[in-house]
Amino acid sequence: MSYKVVIVGATGLVGATMLKVLQERKFPVEQLIPVASARSIGKYVEFNSEEVEIVTVKSALAMKPDIALFSAGASTAVEYAQQFAEAGCVVIDNSSAFRMDEDIKLIVPEINGDSLEKSDNIISNPNCSTIQLVMILAPLHAQYGIRRVVVSTYQSVSGTGAKAVLQLKYERHDLEAEMAYPHPIDKNCLPHCDDFTENGYTKEEIKLVNETRKILDDSNLRITATAVRVPVDSAHSESVNIEFSKPFELEEVRSILSGTDGIIVSDDVGANVYPMPLDAEGKDEVFVGRIRRDESNENSLNCWIVADNLRKGAATNAVQIAEKLVEKRLLG
Ligand code: A2P
Repeated sequence: MSYKVVIVGATGLVGATMLKVLQERKFPVEQLIPVASARSIGKYVEFNSEEVEIVTVKSALAMKPDIALFSAGASTAVEYAQQFAEAGCVVIDNSSAFRMDEDIKLIVPEINGDSLEKSDNIISNPNCSTIQLVMILAPLHAQYGIRRVVVSTYQSVSGTGAKAVLQLKYERHDLEAEMAYPHPIDKNCLPHCDDFTENGYTKEEIKLVNETRKILDDSNLRITATAVRVPVDSAHSESVNIEFSKPFELEEVRSILSGTDGIIVSDDVGANVYPMPLDAEGKDEVFVGRIRRDESNENSLNCWIVADNLRKGAATNAVQIAEKLVEKRLLG
């Protein structure tokens, strides 16, 4: 079997990465249908060495696709995802539009991919910072029971989109940049990812909290976050403090993590080995290191997590969801 696959937002940073990941992982594509905004109609994207013309959302819908990967923001998802679903197409949406809807599953395939069913015609891809966090938390939660998580993120500019990547690039060359952020990002750190809300947290921080609870299926999990934008091109880093209900041994934590699909333990401080964005960029795994006991609190651990936000944090996770649908024969 092969499938008609729509990418909504094919010219964006995540959409372009989706095209790359579909090819690399040899997803069975019968026809690739790239969609972008009006300004890109008639332009082409390259897929499997062929030039494929970008079409409108409506033309894509008329082609009766089997699966649509949406990465064109929440408003596009709200406007069109339901129409695709009603036409028999399974939608995997990378925006925040449906992530917290009770009836819509929020999937990281390694953790809860097996819960997918035929009735899931819109599936949400979690936020990039959430995906890399839960990849580490889930296997440890199963073993020791997590009581509380404190996470601080160090997020790259590619998570904001093309305009932010250009802002950093221009500022690095002392050129006048169109501002994606309210402040310079080069030589700077902004404790500000997405908009602020009334309680003083940003939407990004709230997404991290709520999405983690939903994916771990634990609405009482105590978790708090500070999200920071840093002058890094690609890959997000996170400093994570975890308090467990049960005692643990560091060697066992390392062995649980290194035995989990999709995680690479990179932790040899004697040789200056720890995860870094420059190493994680372009990779699909989540890297974890600096694994050590929090000596200030019982049953507590500190670690450092890095992953490519455009890949495992977005495109790869979406394609892995699509692969899960194929594996479970839920398409078509
Ligand atoms: P376009 O390039 O034509 O503007 P990013 O998040 O990296 O900025 O990418 C957003 C993606 O979503 C782009 O591919 C953009 O296309 C696409 N997009 C934005 N608005 C729409 C829309 N209304 N319909 C379809 N695609 C859209």
